Amino acid sequence: MSIVILGIETSCDETSAAVVVDGVTIKSNVISSQVDIHRKFGGVVPEIASRKHLEMINAVIREALDRAEIDFKDLDAVAVTYGPGLVGALLVGVAAAKAIAYGLDLPLLGVNHIEGHIFANMLVESEPGLPVLCLIVSGGHTDLVLIREFGRYELLGSTRDDAAGEAFDKVARVLGLGYPGGPLIDKLAACGNKDAIPLPRAYLEEGSFDFSFSGLKTAVINYIHRAVQKGGEHINKADVAASFRQAIVDVLADKTMLAARRYATKNIMLAGGVAANTLLREQLSRRASEEGLRLIYPPPVLCTDNAAMIACAAYYKYLRQDFAPLTLNAVPNLRLGRDCY
Ligand code: KG4
Ligand code: ZN
Repeated sequence: MSIVILGIETSCDETSAAVVVDGVTIKSNVISSQVDIHRKFGGVVPEIASRKHLEMINAVIREALDRAEIDFKDLDAVAVTYGPGLVGALLVGVAAAKAIAYGLDLPLLGVNHIEGHIFANMLVESEPGLPVLCLIVSGGHTDLVLIREFGRYELLGSTRDDAAGEAFDKVARVLGLGYPGGPLIDKLAACGNKDAIPLPRAYLEEGSFDFSFSGLKTAVINYIHRAVQKGGEHINKADVAASFRQAIVDVLADKTMLAARRYATKNIMLAGGVAANTLLREQLSRRASEEGLRLIYPPPVLCTDNAAMIACAAYYKYLRQDFAPLTLNAVPNLRLGRDCY
């Protein structure tokens, strides 16, 4: 018998609902992005995000059911992101999921957003081979996680300052490229020279799996300011984008490969918005295969925020009967592997 789960995701600026069968077949994955609204502010405005989620949530859920050609009565469970994220934004999804669970007497599943990003990989490869190493790189997180068993996560390292996506967004802003900056830098970098500008790469203490990108970000900002003071005509934006992208990817790839070797993992997974980065995928794929490992990564639409990954992660919780009570609340600083409901 198949298990049909409705997933709901509203942790940041995407209102999303998806129907996923047996944790692997995506029947629908509706994503209503608020990016055009937040763009003029150069980043996500939390109050606007929650209001927009409230306006969109019912229509997005309806659309997800329609596209999957099912109705509420065909659902086996409803799953929702309950953290980490913006509290007002999370609350909209949590309230909607609880209302559906209560109204239809369905089991409720509370999903950690970061765990959702990890499980986006299970939508493309349901048996990744354990232990597997996952590099999670999003707008809010940069984590290297060792997974010996799903549901239990060993944090090997994380960022001490800016997240990788945050660094991409800030550099893009200084270059006047727009928001979100990651995809724009990625595209522009393809026409630039990666060796044009020498930039620092922070490896921290020997053997550390932590990251730090604020020095790199400041070096780029200083380079641009100096060039502007000299008249500005010397700035080749594509060269800045290519040099910056190379510096950030070098550190991410080096540390990931070091951890894969240290913990003798079978394979490597990429998760989060920055996992859509073309250079990161290319460089890590090549280096992984040189060492007999496989790099698994979701298609770009499943790297950035979406509800299919939430429904997928929820399926494994469903199998474990790990249900959330109807008192489920939003937990803005929820930690990976530590459920609190
Ligand atoms: O996972 P996500 O959608 O939201 C969070 O949970 O944060 O990640 C969004 C981040 C943004 O910082 C965006 O600039 C970055 O992912 N991003 C990229 C690319 N596509 C999205 N960064 C680098 N290269 C890309 N192609
Ligand atoms: Zn995310």
